Amino acid sequence: MVINHLVTLNTWNLREFNRFFKTVDEFKKGRFMPHMNKIITNLFYEPSTRTSSSFYAAAKKVGADVISINNVNYSSVAKGETLEDTIRTLACYSQIIVLRHPEIGAAKRAADISPVPIINAGDGAGEHPTQTLLDLYTIYKNFGKIEDLKIAFIGDNKNSRTVHSLGNVLEKCARVYYCDDYSVDNIPEADIYYLTRVQKERGSSGSYELTKEHIDKLPKNCIVMHPFPRNEEIPQWFDNDPRAKYFEQMSNGLYVRMAILYERL
Ligand code: MLT
Repeated sequence: MVINHLVTLNTWNLREFNRFFKTVDEFKKGRFMPHMNKIITNLFYEPSTRTSSSFYAAAKKVGADVISINNVNYSSVAKGETLEDTIRTLACYSQIIVLRHPEIGAAKRAADISPVPIINAGDGAGEHPTQTLLDLYTIYKNFGKIEDLKIAFIGDNKNSRTVHSLGNVLEKCARVYYCDDYSVDNIPEADIYYLTRVQKERGSSGSYELTKEHIDKLPKNCIVMHPFPRNEEIPQWFDNDPRAKYFEQMSNGLYVRMAILYERL
């Protein structure tokens, strides 16, 4: 039997993305039959607010119960249990495991031995495919497409898994700028500006900040995205600007994750 893991989006094509967006639209409209007697596990080895709570809410909304392990220090991991043994154990009690782990490749390792679908909720500085699906869905809702657009990544492009995953998809169908120099005069003209925080926990340093001067130069019809949490990248006064889409990303995350779970339960 083929197990429908979601470790990376590298094999998805435009047709699959568009099919998935239509499914998410249906969830947004509330059209689905809940699954009963199903359980998903949220297994988080790293801190999370949006990903873990939106997966929790999504599971409840599609009718599933949730085993939440948000602090592995209170699980057998603290007694030295391997990732593989933890996954095999939780697969005895749940139909899907949502895994966040600090090591690149951990989701692939888990998928290699798991009898139930593994959803990669972030593997170190590697990938974050469910964030990418909600980012792409937000782009799709704002532009009616994800292809032939221009996106500028400003922030920790080296160590942000959200940048890696989204960049990998968009490099195949859009113009992608990774801005190391984002000084006001060098900021490219783009449809989407995607900001990220500095990943201090992965050894990155420095800071990125959109100032009023930057914002004044942004095109009127662009959108500004951020996976959050934010530090100083985007000033709070910008939150009510119609170009600020980060709260829309968060809210879309619920429906995207409902669709991801529903299709695998
Ligand atoms: C992530 O888990 O990668 C976040 O959503 C973005 C971040 O941590 O900066």
